[in-house]
Amino acid sequence: NRYCVIMAGGIGSRFWPLSRQETPKQFLDILGTGRTLIQQTFDRFLPICPAENFLVVTSIEYKDLVLEQLPELKPNQVLTEPYRRNTAPCIAYSNAWIKTRNPQASVIVTPADHLILKQEEFVRVISKGVEFVEENNSLLTLGIKPHRPETGYGYIQVSDDSTNTLGEIEPVKTFTEKPNLELAKVFFESGEFFWNSGIFLWSLESINNAFDNHLPDVKSLFDSIQDKINTEDELESIQNIYADCKNISIDYGIMEKANNVCVLTADFGWSDLGTWSSLYEHSVKDNNKNAINTGKVLTYDSKDCIVNIPNNTKAVIQGLDGYIIAQSNDCLLICPKNNEQQIRQFTADISTQF
Ligand code: GDD
Ligand code: MG
Repeated sequence: NRYCVIMAGGIGSRFWPLSRQETPKQFLDILGTGRTLIQQTFDRFLPICPAENFLVVTSIEYKDLVLEQLPELKPNQVLTEPYRRNTAPCIAYSNAWIKTRNPQASVIVTPADHLILKQEEFVRVISKGVEFVEENNSLLTLGIKPHRPETGYGYIQVSDDSTNTLGEIEPVKTFTEKPNLELAKVFFESGEFFWNSGIFLWSLESINNAFDNHLPDVKSLFDSIQDKINTEDELESIQNIYADCKNISIDYGIMEKANNVCVLTADFGWSDLGTWSSLYEHSVKDNNKNAINTGKVLTYDSKDCIVNIPNNTKAVIQGLDGYIIAQSNDCLLICPKNNEQQIRQFTADISTQF
């Protein structure tokens, strides 16, 4: 009775021009491994959860892409959303679907676009977590030891009396989603905080209770169409409620508010591959520390570059230090790695200019 929900509706806008509306990051083989990020996510959870108990929740425009990349799934295992409403409605939808199969289920919820380096350790940690939520009415997060004051993550504070050892399950004192830099620095330096990995474990009953308590409006929308879920009326009923559904993440909507949140702290080589620099960090590099992830590339007098161009493209790079060179279809980006915060701006400008 274990289910695995892969959230795959995001756009990954920081990876422009590779990640775009037509092909967001999760559907790309961004590291050149032969498997896309969503395929790798599926592979990673397969030892823990049978293929027929996976759900992918995504935007309606990506349904065919998901079924193409994950032929193991039946079409009804891909839940499609007519609008992007962030992760809380996405999770509420999957809860409603799982309820049609097994109200006693335990559920693992995962992003579709992360990298996990230590697979064996990962399976061990997840298995321990699943056993815990089968026995306890807790919302379990997986905490990662932070190594910089990153503002793009949730911060999990463990209780005062905690021993703070990796591998323990402990009650969470506070959960703060995406703090500003000042606060992130305080959290980071205090040593009491972990990053939220974005992977959650709970029983269906516990998460449904949390929705009743903290997001009752979202929950009641899905309750109102519960008898249509996993039937031929599902698509139309979902269409009808999504327009009225608020846009909120599970982190702001539930994790910051619930008082039964626990954290399992772990180290399984996690990265959310959130930026070009973090992708670079996790790529295979040549002797000059160039990461040529895709394409056929010759480099001369160049170092610390990251290159993601189509595999059928040849390129020569000369005299570049610390650059991102990324191409997809009709867009090319050449930009120093340490200016990557500007990419969102570039994307906006290019769409208004051309
Ligand atoms: N189906 C669906 N619908 N999926 C969505 C939607 C949506 O509207 N919005 C986002 N997703 C998917 C994304 O594709 C991704 O796989 C996952 O949900 C998480 O969304 P992100 O948008 O990437 O969240 P984040 O990175 O800003 O923050 C979350 O992850 C961090 C770790 O990477 C939070 O949980 C943070 O607390 C956490 O630290
Ligand atoms: Mg993310």
